[in-house]
Amino acid sequence: MKEESPPIEQESSQLSSAVPSPTEKSRKVERSSFLSMVHIVAVGLPLLVIWFAQPGTSLFSWHPTLMTLSFGFLMFEAILMFSPQSSLILSFPRATKIKFHWILQTAAVIFALGGFAAIYINKNMHNKPHFQSWHGLFGFCTVILICLQSLQGVAVLYPKWPLARKMKPRQLKQLHAVCGSLVFLVACATLGLGFYSNWFTKNVHVYVQFCSVLSCIAFAGIVTGQVYTEYGLKRPLGT
Ligand code: HEM
Repeated sequence: MKEESPPIEQESSQLSSAVPSPTEKSRKVERSSFLSMVHIVAVGLPLLVIWFAQPGTSLFSWHPTLMTLSFGFLMFEAILMFSPQSSLILSFPRATKIKFHWILQTAAVIFALGGFAAIYINKNMHNKPHFQSWHGLFGFCTVILICLQSLQGVAVLYPKWPLARKMKPRQLKQLHAVCGSLVFLVACATLGLGFYSNWFTKNVHVYVQFCSVLSCIAFAGIVTGQVYTEYGLKRPLGT
């Protein structure tokens, strides 16, 4: 029997959703080229901090260096692995993206612990009190949170782990992504506060400081947008 053809308006609406209009196309190209530019910022920001800190000249110099490399480059790129617009390995299978993600995240945690040890020991050596500034307090929370988040990551990687058995793998993944983006937001706030520290403001021009803070805001916005689009409020947890 011959199938009834759909009404013309329906047909045209189906067509318009299947074939993107030239404006939609150019908007997509603009969006993805903007999102590709963030890789330049992710490399540029740590290079800028390395330039000013000159790692190796003092124990303190390792703190800003390792922290910016950890959060501004390694952790940011690890999260972007899953971005449908700006992943560096967009066409690779998901399993490969997961492997790159956990390798980069592990490196980020090692760098962050190194950066924390550098500032902690440096303060002890100079008999200075610990965690007295907002940056220090936020930084301490960030370090604790990334350690907890990493444990959750292990649970996602090994769903048979006793701690992971209480949840469905899909729920665990969503929880990991949402908590991960929140932890990254706290890390961006800490980075931003670091750019307001006496050491940084004394060494750089106010425009450089402004651009550094702006980069942290961009990192936070991009990661929040990516996780919201993937696991947004439209989908309840576990579906
Ligand atoms: C997300 C990344 C960062 C984390 C987690 C972090 C963490 C910390 C912590 C926990 C302290 C206090 C240590 C103590 O009191 O024993 C501290 C101090 C300090 N950090 Fe960071 N930091 C980060 C990034 C940066 C950056 C990028 C800079 C410089 C541009 C910086 C500059 C400083 C300075 C100058 C101090 C000593 C003064 C103070 O305690 O506020 N930090 N950081």
